[in-house]
Amino acid sequence: MRYLVTGGAGFIGSNTVDELVRRGHDVVVLDDLSSGKAENLIEVQDKVELLRHSVTDLDRLREACRGVDYVLHLGARTSVPRSVKDPLETNRVNVDGTLNVLIAARDAKVKRVVFAGSSSVYGETPTLPKREEMPAAPISPYGLSKLAGEMYGQVFQRCYGLEFVSLRYFNVFGPRQDPGSPYSGVLSLFNAALLNDTQPIVYGDGEQSRDFTYVGNAVEANLLACESKRAAGLAINIGTGSRYTLNQTLALLEKITGRPAKAKYGPPREGDIHDSQADISRAKDVLGYNPRFGFEEGLKDTWEWFCAVEKPSSRS
Ligand code: UD1
Repeated sequence: MRYLVTGGAGFIGSNTVDELVRRGHDVVVLDDLSSGKAENLIEVQDKVELLRHSVTDLDRLREACRGVDYVLHLGARTSVPRSVKDPLETNRVNVDGTLNVLIAARDAKVKRVVFAGSSSVYGETPTLPKREEMPAAPISPYGLSKLAGEMYGQVFQRCYGLEFVSLRYFNVFGPRQDPGSPYSGVLSLFNAALLNDTQPIVYGDGEQSRDFTYVGNAVEANLLACESKRAAGLAINIGTGSRYTLNQTLALLEKITGRPAKAKYGPPREGDIHDSQADISRAKDVLGYNPRFGFEEGLKDTWEWFCAVEKPSSRS
């Protein structure tokens, strides 16, 4: 099978590309390297075609979709605070870009598009865990952009028969998550801080919680979502079903790394959700998904990766 992975040089993308190559598939990556890195694809560079273009370029997307069976659309502007600061840019990449991907996939007669949705679409609704039937009520431009992408895909399935699945990822973390920007995922920043002997920063009192999901689980879900017949047209939570507060996470990191993880506490972040936890019954039922990697195991792997790859004090 031939796969197009948008954002394939990024964090979740490159981990997914590795697995596709391992399974013997043909892979094309479309990535403008704005946050992705060519070095994430070093191990598979002879086996993968890398097109350095943005999802905002419809003509390039049309070329990239030629002969493709499945599109994994993972290219996006991540980060809630970045979207609060610059909603236009988030919309341009996440909404306009997704519309471009859908048009190109539809016209190239792609079998299915799998979309990187987000837990942020649920917003602040108090009920936990989050089930897909709950009303979406995003509280940030980022969450809204992910909901719009998801709904566009569902409309394309209805209007044009293009199969579409949205995987609502819950706070994915792991090797290759880049700590190089203030908008980076919290666990990459915590790992980099510990590596550099600096203090991790916590926005708020650290009692907010997340269903931190190891990237290996997300990769597995991506591949299952291409194949499952019943998944077409659905939004599906991809998490672990549990949640940890930032304070609990820091205590675990202290244990794993043997380094002090005393945080500096600051004011809470705008657009931030307090608690997040997935109900993964639908993923289990429809995809046969079962998170293989637990949180602690994932944290250990991630720390080992940081120790091996990240140069202390070049970042964070
Ligand atoms: C949100 C989505 C997530 C998505 C991500 C993309 C929710 C619940 N989750 O993640 O699915 O993948 O956007 O960007 O909406 N924090 C600190 N110190 C730091 C950095 C962050 O305390 O140095 C705090 C944040 O305020 C937040 C938590 O850690 O409370 C997680 O932040 P982050 O990793 O940025 O992800 P979300 O915004 O939760």
